[in-house]
Amino acid sequence: MTHQSASHVVREFLESPLTRPALLLWRRKQFLSREGHGFYFGLFDSFEAARAWLPKNPEFGQDALATEYVDVRTKKVFAYDYPVMWWLEHAMRGGATRVLDIGGSVGVHYYAYRRYIDMPAALRWHIVEVPTMISIGRKLAADTGASALDFTEDLQQAVTEEAADIWISAGAIHYFEDATPGLLLKNCRARPRHVLLNKLPLYKGESFITAQNIGEGAFAPMHVYNRGRFIRDIEAMGYSLRDEWPVHERSLYLPGHPERSFPSFTGLYFSDRSVKGPSEQS
Ligand SMILES: C[S@@+](CC[C@H](N)C(=O)[O-])C[C@H]1O[C@@H](n2cnc3c(N)ncnc32)[C@H](O)[C@@H]1O
Repeated sequence: MTHQSASHVVREFLESPLTRPALLLWRRKQFLSREGHGFYFGLFDSFEAARAWLPKNPEFGQDALATEYVDVRTKKVFAYDYPVMWWLEHAMRGGATRVLDIGGSVGVHYYAYRRYIDMPAALRWHIVEVPTMISIGRKLAADTGASALDFTEDLQQAVTEEAADIWISAGAIHYFEDATPGLLLKNCRARPRHVLLNKLPLYKGESFITAQNIGEGAFAPMHVYNRGRFIRDIEAMGYSLRDEWPVHERSLYLPGHPERSFPSFTGLYFSDRSVKGPSEQS
């Protein structure tokens, strides 16, 4: 028996009706502790209900959470970044110069990807973030002369008042309460030609709200989406799904709810139907 299937059997045993109450007590304690970093717990009706249950905390609004992004993620790409870089470069070669990066931290994707792909001289890379990340990101941009970057905390304003060629969101859109891409595309001023979404919690069951221990004693409510509906809502706005990839580095185990657990997250690339694929270009 492989290590993975052995742990699966143990997990199934612990999820049985007899052991489930003890499992939930143990998992809840673990989730709320420092060792629970990255873990998920609970099913909630709303972000408000999740926040009422969670210990009071600043969520993403604390400097300590930026350390890994500044020190590591501005310099390093991971396996799941390659499809994004591939499509980003394709879009940029097709003339795209304006990027809206939703939850782009201090500019991690801009800094890390530009070591691998050519970016246009006229590039504008606009990041929507929380105020703490924005001040660290602005300082980093000033220190490194990254004049293509700018930041805002107002997502609704960014999508309703500005036009972008590419929307990117990696591991972030599910932390926004009312911001599925389908909804944002419906309300935006000018639709982007390309939509690149990475590290998304999609699975085949019903959408739900849970909470994640995001490290440094912080917790965040988040959505998990029904895969088919999430994709259809974007397609309904005039887009075609051009590529998808599994993100094996992220999985979700929800204690007490094995039917809402899944082994990998997802990356998606959509373009509006006028965009030519690589094999269609002259
Ligand atoms: C897990 S990090 C992902 C960062 C980066 N995109 C990456 O892939 O490494 C999620 C990011 O979303 C941002 N975020 C979460 N909720 C937000 C909100 N309501 N408004 C603005 N940014 C938010 C967080 O501050 C954080 O930087």
